[in-house]
Amino acid sequence: MTGVFTNEWKHTMRCGEPRVSDEGKTAVLNGWLRARRDLGGIIFIELWDYTGVTQIVFNPELAPEVHSRARNLRSEYVLAVRGVIRGRPEGTENPALATGGVELMASEFLLLSQSALPPFDPDGADGVSEDLRMKYRYIDLRREGMQKNLRLRHRVTQYTRNYFDGNGFLEVETPVFTKSTPEGARDYLVPSRVNPGEFYALPQSPQIYKQILMVSGCDKYFQIAKCFRDEDLRADRQPEFTQIDVEMSFVTEDDVMSIVEPYLAGLFKEIAGADIAAPIPRLTWKEAMERYGSDKPDLRIDMEIKDLSAAFRDGENPFSALLSNGGAVKGLRLPGGGTLSRRELSEWEARAKELGASGMANFQIKDGALKGPLTKFLTDAGQRALIEISGLTGDDALFIVAGDNWVKACGILGQIRLETARARGLAGEGWKFLWVTEFPLYEWNEEEGRWFSVHHPFTAPMDEDAGFMKSDPERARARAYDIVLNGTELGGGSIRIHNPETQRAVFDALGISPDTAKERFGFLVDALSFGAPPHGGIALGLDRLVMLMCGAKSIRDVIAFPKNQKAQCPLSGAPSGVERSQLDQLFIISTAPEESPREPV
Ligand code: AMO
Repeated sequence: MTGVFTNEWKHTMRCGEPRVSDEGKTAVLNGWLRARRDLGGIIFIELWDYTGVTQIVFNPELAPEVHSRARNLRSEYVLAVRGVIRGRPEGTENPALATGGVELMASEFLLLSQSALPPFDPDGADGVSEDLRMKYRYIDLRREGMQKNLRLRHRVTQYTRNYFDGNGFLEVETPVFTKSTPEGARDYLVPSRVNPGEFYALPQSPQIYKQILMVSGCDKYFQIAKCFRDEDLRADRQPEFTQIDVEMSFVTEDDVMSIVEPYLAGLFKEIAGADIAAPIPRLTWKEAMERYGSDKPDLRIDMEIKDLSAAFRDGENPFSALLSNGGAVKGLRLPGGGTLSRRELSEWEARAKELGASGMANFQIKDGALKGPLTKFLTDAGQRALIEISGLTGDDALFIVAGDNWVKACGILGQIRLETARARGLAGEGWKFLWVTEFPLYEWNEEEGRWFSVHHPFTAPMDEDAGFMKSDPERARARAYDIVLNGTELGGGSIRIHNPETQRAVFDALGISPDTAKERFGFLVDALSFGAPPHGGIALGLDRLVMLMCGAKSIRDVIAFPKNQKAQCPLSGAPSGVERSQLDQLFIISTAPEESPREPV
């Protein structure tokens, strides 16, 4: 039988609060029952709330009736317990718990709520399947780690609001029922009942609206905005996620960076107690690709890719033809790789082949001499150059990938850099931020046979490259920048196009016809023709930021109610079938079978 919760049963302390200094005090605790031990005579339980647990003791000699009722208590029952705090008998203290020096001697309790047998023990949920955790999210969230994540996220959002407010930014909400914004993913569509056959798109970002706010004279905007993208899911992606979205008028790249850097420095100081290096270093996209084989390099790893083409230039070797045709030979020194066996070296080569390399040669120095399958092709000067440029020592191994395309060769070594460093524990600690700038404006899409924007089509080209937009699209660089933290892309932004002619020229270069451009983005181009200030901004992924700050492995661990890898919500069962009549109202012809074929999760 559950009792009625009245004022006298309200907690006087939280479950994580009692300390040795509270000894002798009478307290009421409210919480959930954890870990129950019935030692025949005495019953011990742990009572949990978001602040922690306190051990409760039901002693038959102290309160026989209470003790006998306590026999029926089970996991996750909700209780109010009154008793006296006392120091635990010597030798029974639990130093792992903040409350581990004390226990509450129960004199009375009120059962507030019973619980069905929980599908898993919140304290031992680590081995439990993620779908089960998501289905019973309310139990999963009753865990210390998940509570910590939610609370840290809350602090990050509060800090963010205060920071941007304090710097003169206006928080403006933009619509969720909108028109498609091209951020490179598929849209989630919402049919309109009152406009048969027409659809809203959920925003992939507030991009167009924030630009229009600049045209509207808002000057500085921010929003903690929900975004929706139908794309393949990964550990750091969700179909609906949150951005810290920022836009500013009359600015250059430096202004945007000068707002973001103190924000990140202050946030990490306040929440992680960490000093981050200021100013945040910058690399152009080309440098990042050449040195780290990635547009989001993890700078905690002290390994750099080097250009070894010079070592292979003289004499006949397997790379001669490739080099004279403009190809490149790239190398990566693996510190400590001198001990790698032949088998281990060929396993790494097999991995490089999986990544698309035609081969990955290796070198080591044994007994003072260069060893490796390609050594015989190198001249003495070539060998010396190889050692000098790569910095190879007797302790190391050197991996070589050659290709007619330097970006591809570097990309493969960039991935090998991450994986070897991870496998051999070479990544350092700390928070390594980096700006990556001067991205290419376009990338070629083989499948569709046309150029796509690397960032989005509203990104301004660099002034000196504007002439290449049509004539040599590959060469054109963008006024775009990403902020990277420990190898994860945390955010991206750009200086925007603010005149309608350039905007039309970009659409043209992207193969978007004037009619399509008018139909899809006409309202933006119109707005740009009514006095648009120069403007630019950035969006930071809030979920990713919090994930990194919490040390979580998955973005799902920092979202209260996330979707699983199949974009389903195991808790609510969304997405789900709907009544035929609802489809009829929306003028949608159903081709789905009567019964949903999906297995319940
Ligand atoms: P972009 O597409 O680079 O830029 O997105 C900015 C940041 O949002 C986060 N992010 C995601 N997080 C979780 N799940 C996803 N599916 C997901 N997709 C993106 C990332 C990313 O760096 N409108 C532009 C910004 C601008 O130009 O101002 C934009 O959305 O952390």
